[in-house]
Amino acid sequence: MFKTLDVDHINVIFNGERILKDLSFSVHKGEMLGVIGPNGAGKSTLLKVILGLITPQEGKVSIQSTNKKPVIGYVPQSRLIDADMPIRAWDFVSLGLPNMIRPWLTRRERNKVSKMMEETDTIHLAMKPIGKLSGGEKQRVYLAQALARDPDVLLLDESTSNLDPDAQEAMTSLVHHLCESRNIGIIFISHDLHLVKKYAHRILHMTRGQYIIGKTEEIMKDEKELSLCLHPPYSDESITSVDQQINQEINDERIRTY
Ligand SMILES: Nc1ncnc2c1ncn2[C@@H]1O[C@H](COP(=O)(O)OP(=O)(O)OP(=O)(O)O)[C@@H](O)[C@H]1O
Ligand SMILES: [Mg+2]
Repeated sequence: MFKTLDVDHINVIFNGERILKDLSFSVHKGEMLGVIGPNGAGKSTLLKVILGLITPQEGKVSIQSTNKKPVIGYVPQSRLIDADMPIRAWDFVSLGLPNMIRPWLTRRERNKVSKMMEETDTIHLAMKPIGKLSGGEKQRVYLAQALARDPDVLLLDESTSNLDPDAQEAMTSLVHHLCESRNIGIIFISHDLHLVKKYAHRILHMTRGQYIIGKTEEIMKDEKELSLCLHPPYSDESITSVDQQINQEINDERIRTY
């Protein structure tokens, strides 16, 4: 399997607090890496580092690309779209095309937009105003826009979190299909362990300043404990004990793999 993304010893400190500590991993072509971890663990920060929006204090990110410049597709955690925004879904997707400096589209570009909308099952929404679409429809349009630039790597930050369970499953299954059919590397952040377990090839589990990465079966071995750690039901004590155990395992380097 060919690598498409290398994250190499990244360190990020905000206001004296270390958010990402010596984080290193790779993503391969055709691989979906699920990222899990509690609120504030640094998951979105990691994606922003990959996007070049945050410069780490140490470390580097490299993307292997057949294009002149590596291309990253990104679907952010939240997006404020005015319900009355006078832009059709089709035009919204076309904004994702690379080098859009002309005010018109070539036939090739128009075909491309249509193809992306067909692939994401949004072509029937093409003429509707983007602000009037449902949450699930909007997310699929955002995905179509991110794909329009033929990304080497696709980053999804909780892009299904506001959808109902069926729509979440449909969107993640679509992303999984695109990952394989386009042979691109995908990083998707999710709090839904069921979806991550079903669709991720590997999992990166982040806690503040600590991480483990491994095959999905390996990381999900103690799914119940993991779930407690991510969604603590009663007290901080249970998180602390699970965190302590995970940190101990990291220290032992028993399940730390690259
Ligand atoms: N630009 C910034 N300046 C200062 N602190 C920041 C900045 N961006 C993020 N942080 C802090 O870094 C920590 C990690 O934030 P991040 O958004 O990466 O968490 P997350 O894992 O994505 O959480 P969530 O699951 O809630 O989305 C948080 O404590 C946040 O307040
Ligand atoms: Mg986040």
